[in-house]
Amino acid sequence: MCGIVGYTGEKQAAPILLDGLKRLEYRGYDSAGLAVRDGRALAEVVKATGKLYHLADKTDMGRSLPGTCGIGHTRWATHGDPSLVNAHPHVSGNCSGSGSGKVESDVVGVHNGIIENYGELKEKLMRHGYRFYSDTDTEVVVKLVDYYYKKYKIGPVDAITRTMVRVRGSYALALMFKDYPDEIFAARKDSPLIIGTAENAAFLASDVPAILKYTRSVYYIGNLQVARLSPGSVKCYDLNGDEITLPLTEITWDAEAAEKGGYEHFMLKEIHEQPAAVRDTLNSLVRNGKIDLTSSGITDDMLLSLSQIIITACGSAWHVGMAAQYVIEDMAGVPVRVELASEFRYRSLPMDRSTLVIVISQSGETADSLAALRLAKEKGAETLAVVNVVGSTIAREADHVLYTLAGPEIAVATTKAYSAQLIALDALAVQMAMVKGTASAEQYGHLIEEMASIPEKIARVLEDKERLQWFSSKIANAHDIFFIGRGLDYAISLEGSLKMKEISYIHSEAYAAGELKHGTISLIEKNTLVIGVLTQSRMIEKTVSNMAECKSRGAYLMGITTNGDFSVEDSVNFTVYIPRTDEHFVSSLAVVPLQLLGYYTSVNRGLDVDKPRNLAKSVTVE
Ligand code: G6P
Repeated sequence: MCGIVGYTGEKQAAPILLDGLKRLEYRGYDSAGLAVRDGRALAEVVKATGKLYHLADKTDMGRSLPGTCGIGHTRWATHGDPSLVNAHPHVSGNCSGSGSGKVESDVVGVHNGIIENYGELKEKLMRHGYRFYSDTDTEVVVKLVDYYYKKYKIGPVDAITRTMVRVRGSYALALMFKDYPDEIFAARKDSPLIIGTAENAAFLASDVPAILKYTRSVYYIGNLQVARLSPGSVKCYDLNGDEITLPLTEITWDAEAAEKGGYEHFMLKEIHEQPAAVRDTLNSLVRNGKIDLTSSGITDDMLLSLSQIIITACGSAWHVGMAAQYVIEDMAGVPVRVELASEFRYRSLPMDRSTLVIVISQSGETADSLAALRLAKEKGAETLAVVNVVGSTIAREADHVLYTLAGPEIAVATTKAYSAQLIALDALAVQMAMVKGTASAEQYGHLIEEMASIPEKIARVLEDKERLQWFSSKIANAHDIFFIGRGLDYAISLEGSLKMKEISYIHSEAYAAGELKHGTISLIEKNTLVIGVLTQSRMIEKTVSNMAECKSRGAYLMGITTNGDFSVEDSVNFTVYIPRTDEHFVSSLAVVPLQLLGYYTSVNRGLDVDKPRNLAKSVTVE
């Protein structure tokens, strides 16, 4: 996830681009860059690592970059470290540096998205004499456009559509061509992109807030469409290069709502981004119908030689570990233990080279998780980080890294990063099962297909959110809530309970359903809410019995179960159904109603959903 902007008109471009990027910083903030040109002069590229203000300082708030046509980018690294050389814009020329300064190149571009086949395209271009200075997929696309531009000599729209036919993946692209001084060309597939028009000006951006200050008239450019922007004019084309007419839309949102994509809170937006986060993460780990972990350096031989796995993390990431433990043990028969990172450090866990220590962390900076990683390395274990922020400390220090592609998460209570971590660990479990021979080739294929169906099933769960909104209004004054389940359902209960307590401030606890009667049941009073997670068929009856024990002591019951299993409805007061899937992957679906329940309860109580009291997104103290 990155943010892109573009402007062509009569005003100075750089300050407008910086202002637009500022409003897109929520989409990424590890580096930023601008390319601006003044009439026929060559484009000048300036990049800076870190937050946007570094780029603003470097360009004297844009004043040192004269020109009325330009593009800009704020980066959330996916391919390549968050370094200067990998920062956008990227150029088509064979330059030796980082592609900054006055660039001779015919094509300069910025990109948001992921090009899946960039490796093979890079090889092709190298055979044609192109040299690469960065590790990015974007440089490959820019050079591919340049290749077609020079080969067919038909023009930018033709070069871009040929490129679109050739690349696989997602993109919102903004490109400037040396021979077209006042124009910007844009293309889109599966990544957001809007085009704005105003008198003698045209804008483009990943999201509405970036241009709202300048215009409210926008074109929503469709998938596989191209746009050509010049001052005061926008033309759109289909993949054949034929001109098409798009409707002009008037934006009515206020600026703050626009930043959240129209959602009331970042948390709700991020809950809705889960299908994309899971799909992108899974796609990065599956090639030609098989799981491919080569990007992490984890080999099948390594998986085969493992004697045990220790998963360590904090908060929700630890809950992912709790879920993964059941999946890995059940699928691959490898012993797994899960330790809170803050405890891991004070234990003398036996481990050696045949132990894989997996550290899960969204930020990659959590102090306890980092300390646990360092200890595991000291003790000679093989280490794998499952991290969302590219280039973070944990990612840099671990022997191997599996990146989740959830994009930046703003709300303190994690949702999409949790889901992306879960699918990454599921993919690891499936690969282990294949390598260890505990899954047949047929089962292996089936499991991969099941995982691929998860994003669409999450989207279906989200369609039912109004019922949860209604239910949460009834529980907004609750004093205590208990979440119970067995096995994987217990792991989901842990996350459901944390979501509830951290943003609604209602006391809640998660219990392994069978453990309730050993003390906690004494807390059940009239109308205490007990939420049962009931997705693991061989344990449902037992957990329902535990819920009945609570009901007979006055509890009010909610159950989450799989569609088609209507028996639960007879035993509980409120039932939520999730789509059917392989039971190993059901956590990815069952967690969504629980996130929504926490979210709506917090909203109903009038609390600060995105920034709950006393909490921080990234905890870098021990
Ligand atoms: C904080 C956040 C949690 C997160 C935990 C671990 O407590 O509020 O949402 O799960 O840290 O963070 P990490 O960045 O390591 O995943």
